[in-house]
Amino acid sequence: MDLQPALTCAVVAPLPLALWPGQLQRLRKARIRVVASHVAAEDFDPWLALVRQAGLLPGALCSLVTCDLPWLVARQGKGPMIVVLEPLETDTRDNWQAFVNLIAGLIDPHMRFAALPGPLCLRGDWRPDVHLDLPLIRHFPCDPCTLSGSCPGPLAPTQGLRPRPQPVSNQFDLVEAATGQIELVDGRQYHCDSEQWGMPEVQTAVGRGQLYLDQSTKARLDDFAEDLRLIERTPSGQWQPSATPPFAAEEAELRSILCELLGIVVDIGVGPLRYLDMLAPMIATGAIRYLGIEPDLRHLLAIAPHLPGAVWAQGYGEALPLPDACADAVLMLRSVNHLHDLDAGLAQAARVLRPGGQLLLVDNVTFGLLRTTDQRARAHAIPVSVTPFEHFRNDDASEVLARLPQDWPVLRQRSVQPGGSNQWLLLLRKPGPVPLGGQSGVG
Ligand SMILES: C[S@@+](CC[C@H](N)C(=O)[O-])C[C@H]1O[C@@H](n2cnc3c(N)ncnc32)[C@H](O)[C@@H]1O
Repeated sequence: MDLQPALTCAVVAPLPLALWPGQLQRLRKARIRVVASHVAAEDFDPWLALVRQAGLLPGALCSLVTCDLPWLVARQGKGPMIVVLEPLETDTRDNWQAFVNLIAGLIDPHMRFAALPGPLCLRGDWRPDVHLDLPLIRHFPCDPCTLSGSCPGPLAPTQGLRPRPQPVSNQFDLVEAATGQIELVDGRQYHCDSEQWGMPEVQTAVGRGQLYLDQSTKARLDDFAEDLRLIERTPSGQWQPSATPPFAAEEAELRSILCELLGIVVDIGVGPLRYLDMLAPMIATGAIRYLGIEPDLRHLLAIAPHLPGAVWAQGYGEALPLPDACADAVLMLRSVNHLHDLDAGLAQAARVLRPGGQLLLVDNVTFGLLRTTDQRARAHAIPVSVTPFEHFRNDDASEVLARLPQDWPVLRQRSVQPGGSNQWLLLLRKPGPVPLGGQSGVG
């Protein structure tokens, strides 16, 4: 998500604006609109809804004094939001370090931070997610300062930072052009029309055979099997759309594993719950006990009524609200690349899995869509708030496998290859006793 154009956001300040001298003027310079100077805690959610309805990005103004853990936690998981920090003359390096430690533990990747100008030396190695290009208005006394002499100055870029992950798309568009970069489908020329991806990614996707024809007229692609056709290279070297829907073989394999699950199943990042038809009878017969974890409350509210007997928790893969070794199987189905901290997410999955339990990971690598200019315009008109929990990487099976404990037996691995779709699969077993009777008969 690119927050920069959305900085015509609405900001709420925790104190009446009269107590924040010069604030309004500075926010306006940053194209930030202050629509309310104070919103009571109980009115915050309705305020968020109103701001989003108005097409604005919600923001909150605070200082190191007011931005404490309860304040942040109360605002997590509510979708994209920007927190604008106001540096104060009373800030110290220790206060900033405490703040940096605090937000390092935050797990909501959609809460983004910006700061009004102040002395960067105080901020240590923290860099805001959103840069506000504003002059330093207020005078900050920098003496006495331990950095005196080596201070980079209040507006100089900071060094040696470990930035928070930035969302990445897992798709690029190839649009037909008179003189394109790449020739496909009956000799027609295509141009890669993407701000994030260039020819190296296009070549990788071509090498993996991951180009699809967008044959839909929908505003939003929601059924890839129906909406897309894989572009395949014929034996004579031509590129042609396949006649059959993509993903059939991959989905059949995935379903064959899911239907053999037994015991307590933890599903991380359930989304719209594609496998309701299989899971419902498995829960009803007592073959599995199903626990779905999902950060986006809208998904939970939509699916919960359709899966009686399941248990739901709003949460993140990086911080599972579950005890150690409680699950017989952990699933991450197309949510692996959505984790903003993959190592933390895999470590959590390993923690909650019992010895002998199975970890099933499925996700997709980058792919290209052959689109008309109309299809592309339509896709780009979709507001960011519709897809707030984006990808943070496009790892494939081997990249994820390399980050898992090397002594875990790999029961099944499907990597992305030409002729198949861009969906990979990994099934591993945590070392320990033999799995529950008959579980996933692939061990
Ligand atoms: C592409 S959907 C996959 C949904 C479903 N598992 C499926 O296979 O269709 C990815 C899901 O991961 C969720 N997600 C995003 N970030 C997450 C995180 N940090 N931890 C757990 N789930 C996350 C998203 O909200 C979304 O529902």
